Amino acid sequence: MPDTRTVNPFTETNSFQKISGTEIAKFFHNFTIDESCGKCTPCRIGTKRMQSILEKISDGHGTSADLDVLEKLTGYITENSFCGIGQTAPNLVRSALSAWRNEYDACTVKIKVNGMEIECPSTATILEAAKTAGINIPTLCYLKEINAIGACSICMVEVKGTSNLVASCVTPVSQGMEIFTHTQNVRDARRITLELILSNHRKDCLTCVRNLSCELQILALNAGVKSVGFADDELKPQIECSTLHLVRDNSKCVLCRRCTAVCKGVQGVGVIGVHDRGFETYVGCDFDRHLGDAACVSCGQCVIVCPTGALTEVDDTATVYEALADDTKYVVAIAAPAVRVALGECFDMPIGTNVQGKMVSALRQLGFNEIFDVSVGADFTIMEESTEIIKRLETEEHLPIITSCCCSWINYCEQYYPEFIPNLSSCKPPQIMLGALLKTYYAKKIGIDPKDLFVVSVMPCTGKKEEIRRPHHQAIPGVFDIDVVITTRELGHMISTGGIMFHKLPNEEFDPALGISTGAGYIFGTSGGVMEAALRTIAEKMTDKVSDKVSFTELRGMQGVKEAEYDLNGKKAKVAVVSGLKNAGNLLDSIKAGKARYDVVEVMASPGGCIGGGGQPIHDGATMNYTNINELRSLALYQGADDLRPLRKSHESPIVQEVYQHAIGEPGQKVAHEWLHTKYQARPLESKKKI
Ligand code: SF4
Ligand code: SF4
Ligand code: SF4
Ligand code: FES
Repeated sequence: MPDTRTVNPFTETNSFQKISGTEIAKFFHNFTIDESCGKCTPCRIGTKRMQSILEKISDGHGTSADLDVLEKLTGYITENSFCGIGQTAPNLVRSALSAWRNEYDACTVKIKVNGMEIECPSTATILEAAKTAGINIPTLCYLKEINAIGACSICMVEVKGTSNLVASCVTPVSQGMEIFTHTQNVRDARRITLELILSNHRKDCLTCVRNLSCELQILALNAGVKSVGFADDELKPQIECSTLHLVRDNSKCVLCRRCTAVCKGVQGVGVIGVHDRGFETYVGCDFDRHLGDAACVSCGQCVIVCPTGALTEVDDTATVYEALADDTKYVVAIAAPAVRVALGECFDMPIGTNVQGKMVSALRQLGFNEIFDVSVGADFTIMEESTEIIKRLETEEHLPIITSCCCSWINYCEQYYPEFIPNLSSCKPPQIMLGALLKTYYAKKIGIDPKDLFVVSVMPCTGKKEEIRRPHHQAIPGVFDIDVVITTRELGHMISTGGIMFHKLPNEEFDPALGISTGAGYIFGTSGGVMEAALRTIAEKMTDKVSDKVSFTELRGMQGVKEAEYDLNGKKAKVAVVSGLKNAGNLLDSIKAGKARYDVVEVMASPGGCIGGGGQPIHDGATMNYTNINELRSLALYQGADDLRPLRKSHESPIVQEVYQHAIGEPGQKVAHEWLHTKYQARPLESKKKI
């Protein structure tokens, strides 16, 4: 007997729930539940169980077995309920059932995978159907919703009745299809494919930055590649390091095109593409320009999707070690909120674990003199930005005001949408604000020459390496606010190199001088967080009253675009939160065309915000395809951090109040502008100027 399993056909992409009237049936069923007197069992419990099944169908998780149970329940409740309410309660659902069955059958196919009978949506690919049934087909070029091009030939499978193997990532299932995923023929083909790829690959695994986290290595291991049975190209490194944030080495590129797909399809930038033909094919910029001369926005999204060591961030750890070894330097580390909910992944901890305490402890063991929290910088950002937002709302000048925390967004705006530069907030991003306060207020407070205060910023994003070199990021002329940026991955590497047993570290606190933030500062790490943090302060500043509303849940979640409208002291303010630069570009186009109007807009270049930054730990394709990595990290910031803070509004922070009182004066005034604000420069694409 074949093992029979049921696969969910009610996916977001099929039309079942949209046209079936499920929502109408659910609405009326909920009404009858409310009307039930609760006396007899069939009506009291039966209708409740019907409701759960309707919810499941409505959520897109219903199965044919659920339709069977629903059918039985409707008959049972009608026949056994005590009064007319119960007897008629299931009528609407019963009449919808036959339509649902027809739709279910129309959008479902029965197939066999390795002899196992499977029912799955007719829109599924072989890869998806096999995965749902618990069979893992290896992939290399495929990335869900980003890159489905059938290029690498790793995911090939046998289909009965076809003479050639087919690429499972791009081949849809069909009724009665019989698929074999791991036959000798398939395994041989996969091994030969990998041997061919490896024959044109510079294999210096032991010294490669992706050693032990390389998808090509793992595929070769699992496919049983013992040697490369073809003439081996003797490749030399092909290093392209024209930017401050990333390095390309095409001698390790497998031409999966995941990087080009994310750059164009997710970021709407498209500065890298595939060039030449046949064996000479390679990835690079148009006209063989260096990336540093193209309009790259430094987001690093290409790095986190690259399966090999072909794309990496610029390694700045040597500069950090040098500073730590220099007795004349007072070396301070500052860490962004998104780092603490991802660093644990470098040490195989579950995605979305908040390791703030261990991170601080590790930084102390590495030898930093003090460790501060970039969330404190975010609290200062809110003080300045909320002042700016209120002023613009009052004067109605340059609306919408658009946030400026995200370095890659600023690059994108300056290069692709310079007409929106007047709309940008002039606030420096949180890491730069904190660096500026360290070099001015704090250096003076502890009696150190700002030139000897060396600030290392740990960031989730590669673009921050470039951001610190912007000319206006010097509160003291000639002294950069931040000295060096390392990514979450680089910090993870430093911890491993230092022999620090991360799992065993105690939880320690940031140093108190600039290390205790509010919850508002924490949520800067996720899409919607900056807007929510700003609203917590704006609502009170505009009314001079304490507001009960702390959580703006409508701005949370991983959707690329979120909108809401608020009443701010009698004034309606329409806000939008957008992540992913392609989404940002579309939103700006709508504003330009007069199709949309907003008062305040938050833009983050990385999908999901900084938690999805290009400097975060890299996961393999299968994990990226089937786990909502950013949602787990985001939850850790809201539930494990913001919710637990005694203070959740930036203006309530005692540190913020003390520094304004003793050093800055009022937000938006002279000192604030010198230390905490910046300027932008249009950099039209045709005359791309470096920062
Ligand atoms: S990219 Fe992977 S296979 Fe290639 S050298 Fe690096 S670790 Fe080895
Ligand atoms: S860093 Fe961003 S903009 Fe630059 S090439 Fe990579 S994905 Fe494209
Ligand atoms: S650079 Fe990396 S992501 Fe881009 S095509 Fe090459 S291997 Fe794939
Ligand atoms: S062809 Fe399917 S994963 Fe590359």
